[in-house]
Amino acid sequence: MLVLGIETSCDETSSALVENGRKVISNIVFSQEKIHSKYFGVVPEFASRAHLEKINWVIERSLNGKNINQVDAIAVTVGPGLMGSLLVGKIVAQTIAYVLKKPIVPVNHIEGHIFSIFLDYPKIKPPFLALVVSGGHTELIIFEDFGKYKVIGKTRDDAAGEAFDKIAKLLNLKYPGGPEIEKLSKSENKYVIDFPRPYMPETFDFSFSGLKTAVVYYVRDNFPKNVKKMKPIDINSICYSFQKAVIDTLVWKTITAAKKFGLKKIVICGGVSANMALREEFFSLCKKEKLGIYFPSKKLSTDNAGMIACAGYYKIKNVKLKMQNLKIEVDPNLKLSNWQ
Ligand code: KG4
Ligand code: ZN
Repeated sequence: MLVLGIETSCDETSSALVENGRKVISNIVFSQEKIHSKYFGVVPEFASRAHLEKINWVIERSLNGKNINQVDAIAVTVGPGLMGSLLVGKIVAQTIAYVLKKPIVPVNHIEGHIFSIFLDYPKIKPPFLALVVSGGHTELIIFEDFGKYKVIGKTRDDAAGEAFDKIAKLLNLKYPGGPEIEKLSKSENKYVIDFPRPYMPETFDFSFSGLKTAVVYYVRDNFPKNVKKMKPIDINSICYSFQKAVIDTLVWKTITAAKKFGLKKIVICGGVSANMALREEFFSLCKKEKLGIYFPSKKLSTDNAGMIACAGYYKIKNVKLKMQNLKIEVDPNLKLSNWQ
């Protein structure tokens, strides 16, 4: 079965063709990074306009020489995300489904991130613990089976990626902040600052706003004159120490949850999972704890339509959607729900 995936929930316009939920034929991503970088964050109106301008182009390229009639079903992200951005993907997907008389399947973006793992590790089997860690989400989810999930923790304020982006803005670095902070953290020219770790051991929820405020106060107290005049060594040190505090927190909470719920496999996905220091820390501690650890490849960590097509395939197979079930709605605050 050939599924066409469409993803436009935030600032990536993406279209992909995936065969039988595992084989990626194409996965085209147009990143709007250049459009939003000067604002240090995504501007929703610019995002939806850019989706409109690029959506046909990414779909055409993703067909990869195939005729669109060869597509068996269309999977599209319906939330969570930005309303205007989601609507572009939904309307285009509905139009294609209507014209081709093919089924359309709505996919939750967070669910999509978890399914990215099945594209890189076709043999991985549930149950496992998933940490979805991106610009909009930090959630710990028990993936009991396809379509059967239990959310055991989520962020109470900033998502981890959002905290990376805000600290980058504070330090006058580029958007998105995660890759910039990671790059500067690697420098030898640095010292260590003892920022707090928001472990919150009584819950599996996350909170990164206190850590963010600690960094803001540190900068205000130590560099009161002008952030722009900070020396590279100071910027590198803040980046490294902030990143380490986020990583320590994510790793400790995730491994503690896996042990508590008796899960032997951990999947880390979403944009922040592209961070190499985070990967190394997880690999090293999971080895010690004898837990299996899985990351999607870097390209599949950030937003892409391949993961949406993959999730859509399993949904179609299991829910047996009726042909042309066109009545789908977008929801910017969509919650993860079970379909089994
Ligand atoms: O999954 P994603 O592409 O979009 C959302 O669903 O939000 O994640 C984007 C987020 C941004 O906040 C970005 O700063 C962060 O992922 N990110 C990283 C890295 N690459 C992207 N954070 C830390 N280290 C990275 N290497
Ligand atoms: Zn995402």
